[in-house]
Amino acid sequence: MKLQRRGLVLDGSGVIFAELEALGLAGWAFQMVSTIDAALKALSRDPAIIGLVAFDSPHAWPAAELDQLLARPDVEWIALLEEGLLRGERLSPEVLRNFHDFHSLPLDRARLGCTLGHAHGKAALLRSEVGQCSDLGAYGMTGSSPKMRQLYRQIDKVITVDAPVLIGGESGSGKELVARAIHRYSARAHGPFIAMNCGAISPGLIHSELFGYERGAFTGASQRKVGNVEAASGGVLFLDEIGDLPLEMQASLLRALQDRTITRVGSTERLHVDVRVIAATHVDLARAVSDGRFREDLFYRLNVVRLKVPALRERVEDLPALAQQVFEECRGKGAQARGFSSAAMNAMMAHSWPGNVRELRNRVQHALVMSDNRLLTPADLGLVEVVGSVDSTLGERRTAVERELIEASLKKCRNNVSATARQLGVSRVTLYRMIDRLKIVL
Ligand SMILES: Nc1ncnc2c1ncn2[C@@H]1O[C@H](COP(=O)(O)OP(=O)(O)OP(=O)(O)O)[C@@H](O)[C@H]1O
Ligand SMILES: [Mg+2]
Repeated sequence: MKLQRRGLVLDGSGVIFAELEALGLAGWAFQMVSTIDAALKALSRDPAIIGLVAFDSPHAWPAAELDQLLARPDVEWIALLEEGLLRGERLSPEVLRNFHDFHSLPLDRARLGCTLGHAHGKAALLRSEVGQCSDLGAYGMTGSSPKMRQLYRQIDKVITVDAPVLIGGESGSGKELVARAIHRYSARAHGPFIAMNCGAISPGLIHSELFGYERGAFTGASQRKVGNVEAASGGVLFLDEIGDLPLEMQASLLRALQDRTITRVGSTERLHVDVRVIAATHVDLARAVSDGRFREDLFYRLNVVRLKVPALRERVEDLPALAQQVFEECRGKGAQARGFSSAAMNAMMAHSWPGNVRELRNRVQHALVMSDNRLLTPADLGLVEVVGSVDSTLGERRTAVERELIEASLKKCRNNVSATARQLGVSRVTLYRMIDRLKIVL
């Protein structure tokens, strides 16, 4: 059976859509939406790669909203319009520039078929480069559990506005992936995405990393350096581990966000910047505010829209698809393994994944390198086989397995927490949290 190619048709009145349907183009299935909002939602759920926009006047669609729709990097757009809109009463060049092609009305089956075919070929190529084409998730993320669907619905809204976003979630859960998706699917997609990990830069360097410096501003400043805020202008500045930003830098950042200007070190010139800030944190920032470690005014500035990425253990139903995806991505040419054994899948379902998707990736990667088995076993993944008594719940089994694993690892590492954390593929902070929760005595 030949696969249907899908097109999304944005048509306010539905008249052109009806004509299109009447043509009965073989191999194509079209879906109609009558508002830009509905088009954005439809694309984020079920990405089409060809979009058709019907115009019955130059002002059929508000320019800013249309820009946002046309900014989607993985869709090729075709405008359907009356001849007159290309000659007399014209569409603006900005709008025209964003279309792959135009089709003047009335619709012509042969001509349109050809236009659609070309656009489809280009979009398919582009999409294989973008690498996001999964029926098992959205926004380039894998997972269709209720928690992930809820996250996608929130992202649907977040990409249509330009407000700051604060992303919470445990380490390795996918916070950066979410930030990149918001950038990629928002009107700022054509602008830069600049990521900065506030916890990984020494406090003395953060100021110049953020705001840049002029040549000669201090010893060693032999070249002008553009800071991250300036570099992100027109796009998104992703501030990872924002909770680690030193207090004095929090004040400078707040000022820059409020005034929308920055001054490079060694300069007096105030430069206008236009950035959308997306911040991420694995700590409870509200708590950090009440402990006096984070400025309340900056917190409110960043916390306009809040998203929480679910931990992997809250969405175990996504594990098979995620594990398979990670397996395919990590499988090198020489790898023996062809997949997971059912015991491995059971062990993964029972594991609590304190290091989330990153831990899953580490374990699968390790297993692929080290294992000689055709189907990976729980031991290959460093997991304990689940034997579980009939009456114990999944949660109880998971806790028991978790405790067993941590205790064994601690023993092996002579209670050295850093070494144990490394062995388990989680951060020290995460391990301390787990030791605390499971009441393990060191
Ligand atoms: N839903 C998902 N689908 C596919 N891959 C995912 C998903 N979530 C996370 N990953 C992958 O897991 C890894 C960790 O994700 P990411 O770096 O976004 O997490 P993080 O929350 O920013 O982690 P940290 O707190 O440690 O900085 C990445 O390799 C990412 O591609
Ligand atoms: Mg991260």
